[in-house]
Amino acid sequence: MATFILRSPLQLAPALWRRVTLFYVSLLYLALLCQPLIAEEFSGNAAEGKLKAADERCAECHGLDGNIHAFNESTKIPKLAGQSPDYLLKQFQDFRSGERKNDFMAIMARNLDDADVVDILAWYASQPVMTGSHESSAQGEKLFLEGDIKRGIVACASCHGRDGKGTREPVKGYPDLLPELVPVVGGQDWHYLDQQLRDWRAGERTNSQDGVMNNVTKNLTDAEINALNDFISALK
Ligand code: HEC
Ligand code: HEC
Repeated sequence: MATFILRSPLQLAPALWRRVTLFYVSLLYLALLCQPLIAEEFSGNAAEGKLKAADERCAECHGLDGNIHAFNESTKIPKLAGQSPDYLLKQFQDFRSGERKNDFMAIMARNLDDADVVDILAWYASQPVMTGSHESSAQGEKLFLEGDIKRGIVACASCHGRDGKGTREPVKGYPDLLPELVPVVGGQDWHYLDQQLRDWRAGERTNSQDGVMNNVTKNLTDAEINALNDFISALK
């Protein structure tokens, strides 16, 4: 004789609850998976950031408009004007954690709280995007736009865009690379570019995702780095 185990509504409840809980836990998990790498929404207050950039002395080096205005041969300060705010925030966090090494910026990053940083970066990102004024180079242009696949040099333009102003689209062949973390390089300062490209090549700077920048620069010659600096720093 078949036995029926009669379940009272109270007995049913735990099983039901387990399902409901499982459902919501899965939803939460999915939501977490969909989170961008950088959780902070870019909600910085640019007007506040302008005041803080002056108070916190960022403007003394980077300029209040993010275009430096300094003799940069030895200081090698980057322009920040119109840079992607998510990229800037990642750099700040990398200076703080030691992923990217620079003694001075590490101290700056440790002494500022995140709310102030986000405001300051929102200010710089809201400025008209940096433009160049250098004499260009045909060799640099060819490398930037076409790369040299035989030597493992992927075209810079495939990630940084033909005008060097970054990209808003997912990058073909690099599905994990978030477009907002690819920086504007077109119009960047010559001496700063030179320092960074040499640092990537030497493995002094290693904070790019999957080492993409170390891979792409490792076979560049000095002459090619110079040519790239000329071309990139001339981009409008
Ligand atoms: C004394 C000069 C100086 C001051 C003051 C200064 N910086 Fe910098 N900053 C630099 C230099 C030099 C670098 C490049 C470091 C390197 O080569 O890795 C840099 C790099 C950066 C970068 C990375 C940019 C990029 O394109 O990768 C950010 C972001 C930044 N600074 C933000 C700030 C903020 C915000 C402040 C104020 C709180 C500030 N800096 C104050 C000199 C300065
Ligand atoms: C696969 C994509 C990809 C390719 C190809 C690529 N880059 Fe990059 N590049 C990046 C990313 C991503 C970063 C930011 C890394 C980080 O998070 O610090 C970067 C950073 C840089 C920086 C530092 C910018 C700054 O403000 O500090 C320079 C300069 C640069 N790239 C130049 C080049 C040049 C020149 C080439 C071609 C020889 C090139 N890149 C090819 C993705 C790429």
